[in-house]
Amino acid sequence: MRVLLVGAGGREHALAWKLARSRVLDELHAAPGNPGIASLGECHAVAVDDVHGLAALARRLAPDLVVVGPEAPLVGGVADAVAGIPVFGPSAAAARIEGSKRFAKDVMRAARVATARLLADPQPPCVVKADGLAAGKGVFVCETQAELDAAFAAAPRDAFAEELLEGEELSVFALVARNDVVPLAPARDYKRVGDGDTGPNTGGMGAFSPVPGLGHELEDLADAIHRPVAAELAQRGTPFVGLLYAGVMLTADGPRVLEFNCRFGDPETQALLPRLEDDLLEALAAAARHELGGVELAESNVAAVTIVLAAGSYPERGDTGTSIDGIAEAEAAGALVFHAGTAERDGRLITNGGRILNVTAVGDTLEDARDGAYAAAGRIHFDGMRYRRDIALGAVGVVH
Ligand code: AMP
Ligand code: GLY
Repeated sequence: MRVLLVGAGGREHALAWKLARSRVLDELHAAPGNPGIASLGECHAVAVDDVHGLAALARRLAPDLVVVGPEAPLVGGVADAVAGIPVFGPSAAAARIEGSKRFAKDVMRAARVATARLLADPQPPCVVKADGLAAGKGVFVCETQAELDAAFAAAPRDAFAEELLEGEELSVFALVARNDVVPLAPARDYKRVGDGDTGPNTGGMGAFSPVPGLGHELEDLADAIHRPVAAELAQRGTPFVGLLYAGVMLTADGPRVLEFNCRFGDPETQALLPRLEDDLLEALAAAARHELGGVELAESNVAAVTIVLAAGSYPERGDTGTSIDGIAEAEAAGALVFHAGTAERDGRLITNGGRILNVTAVGDTLEDARDGAYAAAGRIHFDGMRYRRDIALGAVGVVH
């Protein structure tokens, strides 16, 4: 198969790495890709938010499958624009499940999926959310009246308030094609920049999978969340095809959905795909053809831990042009190194973004994977490099 992969981050490098191991892959193309992806396929200089440019590239390459990594082109309608070519990724209408939080609430209400209650007369503590895509900056957790006032002042006019939920968070992914749902193993993401969940929110500073203590509840989560949402979207005439990501809070009253995303999580994917035993490309292609019934995607028993190596100024800013060393040494130590914000200049690898690299190690236990990931990360260097020291720390030693 000839595949066009859209995206430029660590998630897409991990997808490219896994697709490249497929027995049915013949040719891999990426738009725009990154230096890591360039070692696995041919990169084309089309930006992820250039929906028309992506559609034109797809028509020219005539791939058997287009796989879309980030949400922006999906919400922007790239899957509709390449009509005629199978796409793993939802139409703009179905991508609203991520693009509009009000729409997601309405779908959940109709599908009877448990979520945070909307508050008509918000009082602290509560959470204020902007309706549209906000790159992680549209959610305000308000403990006090002053924070609540400030949130409504800062948030767009379409913002709403909902109850504050407490518990452990979980990223729960499933491949979806209309009414068919294939769950993947859950992963945990670390959103705050600092150890102990301190500092501002980020795109994600690390992840691990599996999540101890869940196991057989996974099918229950798919039954309670992904299947009814897939059925509701199909029944509305806007079926979902792609990866449906539920951000779930495990509260004392049971699981509650915080949000949906219409694509793979980043960096959860970097910890998930190295555990997958089955052929991902065959599964994504089956989903894009709406033939997901009977498809299984089994994970091995190994654990995986991913550490994000970020620029010192992340998340406020990123860094460009700083030399990166030690990737070969980290790989020699047994880790996978996925590129996120990197570029090449005069044959040298340099920083080019906020989250620069992702280091993933697998092991028989989370502890082994964690040790491997940190040992490998320690071999990499660029000026200003920062990373959390506590990824998977709380989960180590918990029996799964
Ligand atoms: P979202 O963009 O909706 O995923 O929200 C970003 C983060 O805000 C989530 O990962 C949670 O940590 C937090 N969050 C969102 N909604 C709630 C809620 N109702 N209660 C508590 N925390 C929330
Ligand atoms: N890691 C969070 C996200 O992908 O949205």
